[in-house]
Amino acid sequence: MKILAIETSCDETAAAVVEDGRRVLSDVIHSQAEDHKVYGGVVPEIASRLHAEHISSVARKALEQAGTGLEEIGAVAATAAPGLIGALLVGLNFAKGLCLSTGKPLVAVHHIRGHVAANYIAFPKLAPPFLCLIVSGGHSHIVEVLDYTSFRVIGRTRDDAAGEAFDKAARVLGLPYPGGVHIDAAAKHGDASAFFLPAPRVEGSPYDFSFSGLKTAVINLVHNLKQQGKTLTEAERNNVAAAFQRTACDMLAKRFILAAGNLGYKKLVLAGGVSANSLLRARLKADAGENGLKLFVPPPGLCTDNAAMIGAQGYYEYAAGNLAELSVNARATCQIDNC
Ligand code: KG4
Ligand code: ZN
Repeated sequence: MKILAIETSCDETAAAVVEDGRRVLSDVIHSQAEDHKVYGGVVPEIASRLHAEHISSVARKALEQAGTGLEEIGAVAATAAPGLIGALLVGLNFAKGLCLSTGKPLVAVHHIRGHVAANYIAFPKLAPPFLCLIVSGGHSHIVEVLDYTSFRVIGRTRDDAAGEAFDKAARVLGLPYPGGVHIDAAAKHGDASAFFLPAPRVEGSPYDFSFSGLKTAVINLVHNLKQQGKTLTEAERNNVAAAFQRTACDMLAKRFILAAGNLGYKKLVLAGGVSANSLLRARLKADAGENGLKLFVPPPGLCTDNAAMIGAQGYYEYAAGNLAELSVNARATCQIDNC
């Protein structure tokens, strides 16, 4: 069955046509990153307006590129939560309008479930159960994926999400928004041992993360250098980026591998925008190899926000009978295992 999927939870207006949850027939993304760059982050009101401007043409392009007429579409899936509420409403209401006018079923998809499902596209034989590390701009979770639509969160961030920490560290280093990819690039030329940065444990919660201390340490480090009248050299910037990245990836990898060992998972899956990070990918690959675990990592284009992943998860929600009423509302927050 072909699903037309819509994703507008943040600053990408995206639409895709996906067949049977695994085969991507089209995947169209209109990124607003350039529009938000000047503000150093996503401005919700601007995001909503731009989604409203682009959603129709992006959806039309997705159908055209798939060579599919609306009549061949079995259901429309749209991200309904979590995300920027105004942004979500644009995509969800667009999908509702399509369903209202065509009589097709509507599937409301949880954005983070979508990130997990990106792996079903990348790895056609991958099936639950597995343990997933989800690291995005708004979320950092270790999740047991018990089935396609059944999840249990066993670890989470207590403060900032991993991507948020990357973006804030990048900002203080004077790197452009969104910063994760620039930290990744700068770190390749830096020496991670040039600076020591803290990676605190969360007392009593072995699988939880805390990034705020690390973020503050980077801010203080850069401010101290500046207070000494020094302008940050490119080499120093690269070193701070490398030290930050190594500490953040170390924290993520250690908790993930520990959880896999304790809970007996042999299949590990990575998801979300930060899983595009080259060190995190390399580090987990090495750790998984050493521990006899199989690691699945989607290609970078499927790690960051896209509608194909919403089409993949939408298929499994549909198959499980999880159809939405046209009265369904978007929600800014809601848990992957309790939404
Ligand atoms: O999953 P995503 O596209 O959007 C959310 O659902 O939040 O994740 C975006 C996050 C941003 O914080 C961005 O800086 C980060 O993913 N990111 C990276 C890399 N590429 C994107 N972080 C570290 N290294 C990267 N290569
Ligand atoms: Zn996302």
